[in-house]
Amino acid sequence: MYRALTVASSLLAVAQGQLVGTQQTETHPGMTWQQCTAKGSCTSKNGKVVIDANWRWLHTKTGLVTGQDISYTNCYTDNNWNTTLCTDNKACAANCAVDGADYTGTYGITASGNSLQLKFVTKGSYSTNIGSRTYMMRDDSTYEMFKLGPNVEFTFDVDLSNLPCGLNGALYFVSMDSDGGLKKYSTNKAGAKYGTGYCDAQCPRDLKFINGEGNVEGWTPSSNDPNAGVGGHGSCCAEMDIWEANSVSTAVTPHACSTIGQTRCDGDSCGGTYSGDRYAGLCDPDGCDYNSYRMGDKTFYGKGKTVDTSKKFTVVTQFIGTGDALEIKRFYVQGGKTIANSNSQIAGVDGNSITTKFCDQQKQVFGDTYTFKDKGGMANMAKALEGGMVLVMSLWDDHYSNMLWLDSTYPTDKDASVPGIGRGECETTSGVPADVESKSASASVTYSNIKLGPLNSTFG
Ligand SMILES: *[C@@H]1O[C@H](CO)[C@@H](O)[C@H](O)[C@H]1NC(C)=O
Ligand SMILES: *[C@@H]1O[C@H](CO)[C@@H](O)[C@H](O)[C@H]1NC(C)=O
Repeated sequence: MYRALTVASSLLAVAQGQLVGTQQTETHPGMTWQQCTAKGSCTSKNGKVVIDANWRWLHTKTGLVTGQDISYTNCYTDNNWNTTLCTDNKACAANCAVDGADYTGTYGITASGNSLQLKFVTKGSYSTNIGSRTYMMRDDSTYEMFKLGPNVEFTFDVDLSNLPCGLNGALYFVSMDSDGGLKKYSTNKAGAKYGTGYCDAQCPRDLKFINGEGNVEGWTPSSNDPNAGVGGHGSCCAEMDIWEANSVSTAVTPHACSTIGQTRCDGDSCGGTYSGDRYAGLCDPDGCDYNSYRMGDKTFYGKGKTVDTSKKFTVVTQFIGTGDALEIKRFYVQGGKTIANSNSQIAGVDGNSITTKFCDQQKQVFGDTYTFKDKGGMANMAKALEGGMVLVMSLWDDHYSNMLWLDSTYPTDKDASVPGIGRGECETTSGVPADVESKSASASVTYSNIKLGPLNSTFG
């Protein structure tokens, strides 16, 4: 598959390594946020957002010139690599370039003032785009590193009235490098400006580049995702899921890693969603989650419920204390009212916030694997939060488990009345990507009004 474009031939000169293409100028959409020092005392920051490199057009570094036209060969098409250009991981980095993004036209991403809207399915002139993953930047080549503790709160507004079963509007933090790995890996010439360096607690293996090299060696195209596959390497780091949600269910989930910063892993020893043994890696893929429905309160969150997801609302997350004593506390604000998180209604699990005690109790009562503690638990999560993390704002569907772990009965062969199994009101047959992509193509999520500050400074 080729794309022909008319450009001046002087644009052909590029450096060696995971390269940068010149067909589309990279212009990061602006999005303001506020740094508060006390209630009513906040300073506006001019942030920008960047889309992850994995979503970008990846093509030959130089094009074939015919008259005024230059045509490029794709290095990656659908879910396959061009193995002539990408004979191995290093060759791929030397031969291929990621290009700039048309945020609205190609990816359905629109920023305005303090808000960012992500559309689910966007039909562009060359391709149909599904979902997106964006990062908040400090400047055009650096991610903003948010320091989330000790005793800090993070607040944002969300409108997910248009997000049905099977979709996940996720706002979260990961311990990526602030320059996307540009300095550490000399063959990464793109860096944060082009959204490189992603990592999370699933140690994702669907990334096309890791550590300035391709991920073509060992690549297996997905059987049910026409755009994705699994490569021989993954990219691990700590992850704090502030918000994984649709209009039916929500979860807040810390995921600890024994090594906090971005670390490349090999094959199935990566663990996580993409590997044979889920628990083989550096990170805790399950986390210690608080989902109000799963914790027994079925009237708290949803359309027409206490937190009414048919309208915009504010989500407050407090990081109180440090080390193993870290407490992650949730409030909501809607219609001028502060709403405390729902209390656990599960016998043997106490409270309405995430603490080491809550995790101990919840894993025991639900009979879940307790990897969170093995990977350093709250102490390692606190270290990651206090060390500075990159803010991710995304929208995705789930080719591995149809998002049923968030919004339905999961595992699906268990009874929803068993504690820990019912997570939301969606049918166990819902969330199949092919269905949501066709039936809910126009779904979207809007994040806005982001604030960071000391406890009780950003709301109420
Ligand atoms: C792969 O790349 C080579 C070298 O640019 C090109 O000749 C070939 O047509 C490409 N293959 C496909 C399937 O695009
Ligand atoms: C924040 O507000 C809550 C609820 O009003 C209060 O219990 C808590 O002590 C306050 N925390 C701080 C650090 O002011």
